[in-house]
Amino acid sequence: MRKIYIFDTTLRDGEQSPGVNLNTREKVEIALQLERLGIDRIEAGFPAASPGDLAAVDAVARAVKKSTIVGLSRSRTQDIDAAYEALKGAEDARIHLFLATSPIHRKYKLKMEKDQVIETAKEAIRYAKKYFSQIEFSAEDAGRTEIDFLSEVASMAVREGVSVFNVPDTVGYLTPYEYGNIFKTLKENVEGIEKIQLSAHCHDDLGMATVNALAAILNGADQIEGTINGIGERAGNTALEEIALALETRQDYFGAKTSLVLSEIARTSRLISKLTGMVVPGNKAIVGANAFAHESGIHQDGMLKEKSTYEIISPETIGLKESKLVLGKHSGRHAFREKLLDLGYTASEERLNEAFAKFKTLADKKKDVTDEDILAILEEKLVERPEVFHLETIYVTYGNESVPSAKVRMTVAGSEVTEEAEGNGSVDAIYNAIDKASGEEVTLSDYSIKSVGRGKDAQGEVHVVLGQGKLSAQGRGVSTDILEASARAYIDALNGLAERRKSFENVQG
Ligand code: KIV
Ligand code: ZN
Repeated sequence: MRKIYIFDTTLRDGEQSPGVNLNTREKVEIALQLERLGIDRIEAGFPAASPGDLAAVDAVARAVKKSTIVGLSRSRTQDIDAAYEALKGAEDARIHLFLATSPIHRKYKLKMEKDQVIETAKEAIRYAKKYFSQIEFSAEDAGRTEIDFLSEVASMAVREGVSVFNVPDTVGYLTPYEYGNIFKTLKENVEGIEKIQLSAHCHDDLGMATVNALAAILNGADQIEGTINGIGERAGNTALEEIALALETRQDYFGAKTSLVLSEIARTSRLISKLTGMVVPGNKAIVGANAFAHESGIHQDGMLKEKSTYEIISPETIGLKESKLVLGKHSGRHAFREKLLDLGYTASEERLNEAFAKFKTLADKKKDVTDEDILAILEEKLVERPEVFHLETIYVTYGNESVPSAKVRMTVAGSEVTEEAEGNGSVDAIYNAIDKASGEEVTLSDYSIKSVGRGKDAQGEVHVVLGQGKLSAQGRGVSTDILEASARAYIDALNGLAERRKSFENVQG
């Protein structure tokens, strides 16, 4: 069976999603999960973008052992040097060079003629060869490039010995028929094209990113680029879980498959959603909360008689298990440990004790502790960050005819501080009180809240993004009370900012 290589760019194109800002530890955590998922090539970032990006790519390159680690680079020597610096610790590395080729980009962005584009790309590939044996070259905005010129660029890339030629539909403009045709034409017209791999990179501006990537496969693409949950610049990229499941479910049609460990998909999706703060819509294919839910009576009746009537993929395939073990306040450590194993976690004794204590506190407030609650407990502090700020207590006064006020007691760098403030609403009052207590001046650029599971007593999970000058950081908080969850998320983001400030100062020397 033909193998399709999977190139994951969650940490690069995915991180370009508005509001997403991952720190190095979060990137490493995601990369290790992508490795468990069996991703062939992980694009870890754009090392020349900033010293922080370079350090993050370096950390991912050193942590991951099985997948190839890729770094993005413009066709410039400084970028290539930065990519080398970031990737030299990897077991297996490759550089991803790009240069725009479309008439619009040549005229307005690059101000280059066609021959200058070819020459610049050629020089960059030759320079990169000093450091890298594997090079991917992307013709940015290939989708709107004249096919004859794109073939010329591909011929040059083949002659210069790249391993992969990527054909990005940078602005998500093409239809499946047009996009597939580009691959067909390159295969037919470019001499020596069989020596290299052709790659598809699609954006979802018109909702065609997945279907375009599938059209590329049907026309000879060897590699698909995309992200988990389809996150990415603007409307996002091809959702890799959709590609993997389309190939798996319709092997009869595509005759191709990936090497992904499908049972890791649900966990990967959840981790990325948590760390990026990008909520997966309920109706999202494969990983949405409703993807396996059957609501109508006719469908439910069919499912009870024979699952294949309405189910083309089983939830178990992507690692979702229906658990028979329901936990409540009488459950002991043994049942809790069994539950963790059931959910696929093997926690250390210390982590188990910590999670068990939190579970007991939650079970006192909530009758049934669901799998989602347990995952929220396990994942709340998934990536530990040093705590400069810590919430001790919080009191809120609210009435719809009075001005809300909040009183917070917190520890700031080891000393206890208590402050009170008013606000337009309860959350605003809490945030004003925290600002006073922390002494930090920040802007709140994003706030979102969702329930963990269903029911009136469900926990609330809050995600915030705070900005401070050029820096920004995300924070998460989970609690049975949404005001407490809001406070926790804000304080988590303050700790994230403190951490970023520190690494920024270190870089500045
Ligand atoms: O969409 C795009 O063109 C890109 C390139 C850098 C490959 O992300
Ligand atoms: Zn892109």
